[in-house]
Amino acid sequence: MTIAIDWHLARALLEWQVELGVTDAVLAEPVDRFARVEERLDAEAQRAAPQVSGARTPVAAAPDDGPDAVAEATRLALAAQDLPALAEALQEFPYCELRRGARNCVFSDGNPNARLMIIGEGPGADEDRQGRPFVGKAGQLLDQMFAAIGLSRGSPDPNASFYVTNTVPWRPPANREPTPDELAMLRPFLLRHIELAAPEVLVLVGNVACAALLGKRGITKLRGRWTTAQGIAAMPMIHPASLLRNPEAKREAWADLLAIKARLQGGDRDPH
Ligand code: URA
Repeated sequence: MTIAIDWHLARALLEWQVELGVTDAVLAEPVDRFARVEERLDAEAQRAAPQVSGARTPVAAAPDDGPDAVAEATRLALAAQDLPALAEALQEFPYCELRRGARNCVFSDGNPNARLMIIGEGPGADEDRQGRPFVGKAGQLLDQMFAAIGLSRGSPDPNASFYVTNTVPWRPPANREPTPDELAMLRPFLLRHIELAAPEVLVLVGNVACAALLGKRGITKLRGRWTTAQGIAAMPMIHPASLLRNPEAKREAWADLLAIKARLQGGDRDPH
């Protein structure tokens, strides 16, 4: 039976999907999932087929891993001599699958000369649409939090501004966390980004930034304690998206903000 899809039916189907929470068409080309099922069934049938006695099982071709993506990322990142060159190298980096589902390569925002640099997790839907980090609800809270200690993205004064980026520049599908492989592949760009921006203080918001730069997670234990990342004083903080879900944690975030303010003013206030 063929169902003719006219304009009204197509619209009703789209509205139904939007009601279910679909916000983006992730791929430019439609995926024929029936063909995929057939391919899988074929592969399973081949694996289940009895082997002819004495015949050698065909050796699968060694997986062609292609170039070492981490080495390539390191080479390209180190070759970039300034932030625009690094942004361009990242934009052109072909090996990370995340880029396939993203609209924009979200590099950074704020004042690159700021003394404070914030590292988040990865772009969400709003960031992907606008091409700037932290512009959705979590980003608005981040701006309010740092405004409370006198810092904004827009200020040209390095003492009164901040610079912000993420561990990965492309939105992970369905806002999942970047995988350890993705983090490892893109880490050389992040390290070079920090090196070129050369902030005095880093703020690592959330577990993923801590995993990428400290090699550990556990933000509720890590937050509020000064540590060092890439030789720079670093303060782990609870992610603003988490604060939106658990507003009671804002008290701790405020203590961390005061510690950051004191550090920037020359004092070294540790809330613990
Ligand atoms: N959350 C992040 O970690 N980064 C963004 O850019 C937006 C939301």
